Amino acid sequence: MRIPIAVLASGRGSNFLAILKAIKAGKCDAEVKVLITNNYDAAAITIAREHNVPVELVERKGFKSREELDVRIKELLDQYRAELVVLAGYALLLKGKALLDAYRNRIINIHPAILPAFPGVDAQKQAFDYGAKVSGLTIHFVDESLDAGPIIYQEAVDIGACRDPDEVAALILKREHEAYAKVIHSFSKGKYAVEGRRVTYLPDK
Ligand code: GRF
Repeated sequence: MRIPIAVLASGRGSNFLAILKAIKAGKCDAEVKVLITNNYDAAAITIAREHNVPVELVERKGFKSREELDVRIKELLDQYRAELVVLAGYALLLKGKALLDAYRNRIINIHPAILPAFPGVDAQKQAFDYGAKVSGLTIHFVDESLDAGPIIYQEAVDIGACRDPDEVAALILKREHEAYAKVIHSFSKGKYAVEGRRVTYLPDK
């Protein structure tokens, strides 16, 4: 089944582009119904326009609170009939209870470190400054916590030879692009059962 997805992105959108390319190449059985962004300046918007993906701009300043902003995002997800919500460099934490409840275990995020190590911003610099020899990426469900929802997929990346945080980021980003499309594809071929923190993949028969 071709899974209808919504992508939320705030910045350069390289993961968004990688997902679109994987779909085009027949490696990811998904369809991007909408790009939702909080940033009118996001390069992700240009990528969406080039791929005929509708764009919805939902700016923080247009709402009294983060909860109200997330109510609007939920309305859009309902309207575009997204079955999976893919955060790809979306800068705001999701705070709306209605949104998180309605899309429980259907919102995923990619984080450029092996969680629970190095959560939050600048994960690649955190790993470099700590002197870690191995870091990587985590794809997880999004809940009320910061980067601590149930883990779907992780991949280690050897960063021992990196000379600065930018090299760490570049190595991990390359892996992110493949991994995110693969994990999205897996949603079209099965389900993830979530019990507490443990996530198990149940492929369709
Ligand atoms: C990626 O490093 C991702 O792991 C993190 O935000 C960054 C987004 O990059 N959540 P891009 O906008 O997809 O290029």
